[in-house]
Amino acid sequence: MIVLGIESTCDETAVSIVRDGRDVLSAVAASQMEHAEFGGVVPEVAARAHMETLPDVYHQALAQSGVEVGRIEGVAVACGPGLVGALLVGVSWAKGFCLGRGLPLVGVSHLEGHIFANRLAFPELQPPFVALVVSGGHTLLAWVRDWGDYVGLGTTRDDACGEAFDKVSKLLGLGYPGGPAISQVAEAGDANAIRFPRGMRKHHNFDFSYSGLKTAVALHVREQGTLSQQQTADIAASFQEAAVDILVDKSLAACRVVRARQLAVGGGVAANRRLRELLDDTGARAGIDCFYPPLELCTDNATMIAAVGDFYLERGAAPPPWMPAVARWPLWPAGKVFAWADPDQPVD
Ligand code: KG4
Ligand code: ZN
Repeated sequence: MIVLGIESTCDETAVSIVRDGRDVLSAVAASQMEHAEFGGVVPEVAARAHMETLPDVYHQALAQSGVEVGRIEGVAVACGPGLVGALLVGVSWAKGFCLGRGLPLVGVSHLEGHIFANRLAFPELQPPFVALVVSGGHTLLAWVRDWGDYVGLGTTRDDACGEAFDKVSKLLGLGYPGGPAISQVAEAGDANAIRFPRGMRKHHNFDFSYSGLKTAVALHVREQGTLSQQQTADIAASFQEAAVDILVDKSLAACRVVRARQLAVGGGVAANRRLRELLDDTGARAGIDCFYPPLELCTDNATMIAAVGDFYLERGAAPPPWMPAVARWPLWPAGKVFAWADPDQPVD
């Protein structure tokens, strides 16, 4: 099945065309640079930028794929969780496209997309396994009993891990997005220079907390006054160590508890080199294989959305014949998709 995937949950406008859930015929993404001057994503600006960019991104994806538009058999759009204004652009565009062409439409979870990025990249990865999704908006651990069947293990109680990277980066004057900037500056720093707190380490559960770490960094920066280049690098490295250390700790503990031998990581923070290094080392000692999608599938993309869509469309995704754009949408209970498979039905 040839599926067109659309992603507009946050600040990435992306369209991909994927055959049979794995064969990527084209993937085009436009990152919105408009937010850099604000040090974070501005929802209204994001929605307007999606409006301007989506038609072009679609035409580029179609041209790159070499596929005639008439050969597209279904459309998948990320309809949550995310910024509602941004989501509405993708969802409305997808509804219009499907209405015009008489195609089935399925609305999928962006979080499930981050898990499916691993399915795309690693055919050998088979449930059950543990998934760690770490991005700018989410930090969660799920037990993937099967594709589409998730048991929640834990989430963040406050900030997301990527959000902490972004905020600390802003504090240190390193720009947005913070993850890549921090990890680059941290290369020259000493990760043991400052012992920042590991949120909820002593709690025997799989929840996370990043607000304490963020505050600890802010207080430290205030105490130091003007920072030298080396001090900045040491803070970046020490912060990064604390942020990823707790992810490794809890993820491997989750694997032990559900007796999983595989851990699949997804989301923008999965691109972090130190996280991968630490997980590989500690995971190997515990006999757990860790999977990280290639960088372009870690950060937001439409290929993962098309892959989830293919999965549900192949299974005849069921009505209701309506599809919202939802700001909050937990990954569990599992298997909930918003499908609109009958072009004769009205759409909200
Ligand atoms: O998955 P994603 O593209 O968007 C969301 O769904 O939120 O993740 C973006 C987040 C940002 O917070 C960004 O700072 C972080 O991922 N990020 C990183 C790295 N690359 C991106 N964090 C740590 N290290 C990186 N190399
Ligand atoms: Zn994401």
